[in-house]
Amino acid sequence: MDYKNFSDISFIEKGINDLEKLTEQNKPYTRLVFSKEFYAGRDWLTKQFELLELETSVDEAGNLVGLLKSNIKTNELVIIGSHIDTVPSGGRYDGIAGIISALNVIKYIRENKIDLPYNIAIYDYLGEELNDWGISCLGSRGIAGLLNEDIFLRTDIMGRVLGEEINKVGGRSKLLKSPLPIVKDIIACLELHIEQGKVLENDEIEIGVVRSIPSISRHLVSISGQAGHSGTVLMNQRSDSLVLASKLIIFINEVALKLSQESNQHFVATVGKINVHPNSAAIIPGFVDLTIDLRAVSNSSRNEFLEAIKNKIISLNEMNEHEVSITDLAFAPYIEMDKKLISSFLKSCDYFGFSKKIMDSGAGHDTAQLARVVPSAMIFIPCENGFSHCPEEFAKLSDIAKGTAVLVKLILDLAKL
Ligand code: HGY
Ligand code: MN
Ligand code: MN
Repeated sequence: MDYKNFSDISFIEKGINDLEKLTEQNKPYTRLVFSKEFYAGRDWLTKQFELLELETSVDEAGNLVGLLKSNIKTNELVIIGSHIDTVPSGGRYDGIAGIISALNVIKYIRENKIDLPYNIAIYDYLGEELNDWGISCLGSRGIAGLLNEDIFLRTDIMGRVLGEEINKVGGRSKLLKSPLPIVKDIIACLELHIEQGKVLENDEIEIGVVRSIPSISRHLVSISGQAGHSGTVLMNQRSDSLVLASKLIIFINEVALKLSQESNQHFVATVGKINVHPNSAAIIPGFVDLTIDLRAVSNSSRNEFLEAIKNKIISLNEMNEHEVSITDLAFAPYIEMDKKLISSFLKSCDYFGFSKKIMDSGAGHDTAQLARVVPSAMIFIPCENGFSHCPEEFAKLSDIAKGTAVLVKLILDLAKL
């Protein structure tokens, strides 16, 4: 069966091109959650929902929802979600491909006057990417009841309070104490996403069907030393917090490398963010904070890593006049996708004769949060050289169209149409 009958490449191309313009102009592609570019992206998506005659709303968690109700009176709901926010200097497909694909699915349903026996909605999940408040997947965690007052009270470097930002975008943070009422109606949560790795491209596979999403946690390490004059303080009299941070980063990398080699399961740890205070060339750094991004399938490797880092911090505190501390910022457990939906996705791939591969995700996704409360599954499409979270990120329009066709077929199968 020709996938082009189920998806519209020029519609997909227009969507990608429209959204890529909504970026910080001097730092493509950057559309950070709650930024003016993000609000422009929400306005654009709201317009698309209106063109598809969807009921548009913002839910309690700040997710933008476009709902197509069934002609049959039912509460049953299938959601197709992803995200329009990006990382700083990110790509044009991470999250965006899933949103455009979801729009194309609904366009197909509308154009073919298909009446589904369940309601179907597109979700733009709020703030999927890691942000300055130290927690990703804001909207999907909100649906699953995984946020709390402490998180809402966090402030970013500009003093913005997270809960207030969620409310400004239309959320109601006060109502986010437990899974949202809609959770009981969701019969399937689906997402198309670029792989953000090289497996599909290397193996020349058209569709990845995701089996699992690794545990992801983030940890803030704060190191306080003594600021001082870079010209007068002798080398053996310094308490330089950046030198100590550098030693810790090397240690983190060594432990992660060792654990990733010992375990045959996915294990990575990264320090991608560091703040040096006061960050001036003529001042010995007095304070540094850095964030550890930790991904692991195996709990024992995760625990072994954190144990090693915490012991290292204890020994650094004993050896130096520094004060080093580590705070847990966010955690999401390893999670497996719904087995029935996985087999439905495999069947959809066969319908089009697509090569396919069941695979574990290295990246985190909103679907990992939803999978904690409703049946959920994801498909991946290849991205060139595995590049992601960078402007070089690229996915073929035909691959997005193939993934869209697989989504449409699964939606029809769920409806037994
Ligand atoms: O960080 C991740 O894994 C995802 O791309 N937000
Ligand atoms: Mn993503
Ligand atoms: Mn991402």
